[in-house]
Amino acid sequence: MIQIPRGTKDILPTDSSKWQYIEEVLRETCRNFNYKEIRTPIFEQTELFVRGVGDTTDIVNKEMYTFTDKGDRSMTLRPEGTAPAVRSYIENKMYGDPNQPIKLFYQGPMFRYERQQKGRYRQFEQFGVEAIGVEDPLIDVEVISLLLDIYKSFGLEKLELHINSIGDFESREEYQKALREHFAPSIGEFCSDCQSRLDKNPMRILDCKTDANHPLMKTAPNIQEYLNDASKEYFEAVKETLTKMGIGFVVDPNLVRGLDYYTHTAFELMSSAEGFGAITTLAGGGRYNGLIEMLDGPSETGIGFGMSIERLLLALEAEGIELPTDDTIDFYLVTMGEVARTEASVILHRLRTNGYRADMDYKARGMKAQIKDADRKKAKYMIVLGDSELESGKIHVRNMETREEVEANLDSFEEEVNFDEA
Ligand code: HAM
Repeated sequence: MIQIPRGTKDILPTDSSKWQYIEEVLRETCRNFNYKEIRTPIFEQTELFVRGVGDTTDIVNKEMYTFTDKGDRSMTLRPEGTAPAVRSYIENKMYGDPNQPIKLFYQGPMFRYERQQKGRYRQFEQFGVEAIGVEDPLIDVEVISLLLDIYKSFGLEKLELHINSIGDFESREEYQKALREHFAPSIGEFCSDCQSRLDKNPMRILDCKTDANHPLMKTAPNIQEYLNDASKEYFEAVKETLTKMGIGFVVDPNLVRGLDYYTHTAFELMSSAEGFGAITTLAGGGRYNGLIEMLDGPSETGIGFGMSIERLLLALEAEGIELPTDDTIDFYLVTMGEVARTEASVILHRLRTNGYRADMDYKARGMKAQIKDADRKKAKYMIVLGDSELESGKIHVRNMETREEVEANLDSFEEEVNFDEA
């Protein structure tokens, strides 16, 4: 038997209504904040991620699904949504649109060849937003508050917002220098990836999974001490506005994020719910001031975040929250005899055309089995259709919850039923 690839999953019909409910909330929140959807391809030229995400990151080095297409071009299944959104922003000259900033959201499958564990998959459904075209602490705060709105609208409470500033390029340069000095004398004790990161990008040593417990990790210099005045001021303004909004946060100087494009504000939303599992990050994001230029665009800046629906579902489970999904149907038609079956299918057509959810038995089962089926399909009302009903044009509509029955006309019962009672 052929099995599903490792690290992927089927979303079964019994679960899909949860996903649809979540997706609707995500879209609704974006509508409130005036973010518009962008849909980009699932694969892009490999170079987009190598340059955008960074060639010393784990994503690019170890986790990409890269293939050569029949035209001998290197393509990659997108591991994240920011680089594609920025590619499209540049290619479609959105920077010239009078409607600024450009506020985008996206949702779709992303692919990373990672070791499968709870909350970590090789194909996951990532939702994200990007606000491109302004550098202003207020837009940073807007993006963070959008993120929190999403999680709070599901009733989640055990949330912890971690924020940090990675500073501007000047501050980052200074910090990278300090990191090099810190790690250089003992770099021989680190993995080969870290050894090559020392020169190229020492910040990536900090999120190495292999050497996470090396004592030098704990004593590494702290970015906060290398922020220049402009970076400090920017970060202060972000923190101040968050506080005014009543959004609580923890400043986490170790938060450097695993992608190269970040400057200034970086943040992660963690779950503090018991039993969430080893990976507690629900969402992550930050400001990227160099990315657009790095991808040959104008000197515009942006900020955004990404989150997977899988981890949101884990958080809901950990906090014992049931989503108010509705998989009920309005009517179930129980039929007795061939003539009734055909007539029922005609009535079903009428009901569905008029916007009612309705179903019947297609397996020619006995009456008892059909009534069971009506229950299983969560019907609000059930109607028994036999020869006498067809002859008289009168039927009984049974409320499945109260078991009460009312008489109604076969050709208009849906208008006679009081749905408020169900
Ligand atoms: P990221 O931290 O790599 O950032 O991923 C963001 C979120 O995607 C994670 O917090 C997690 O919810 C989800 N995620 C990532 N990898 C997996 C996985 N293997 N399985 C399940 N969920 C996963 C980015 O992707 C940036 N593009 C975020 C961003 C947008 N920064 C600025 N704008």
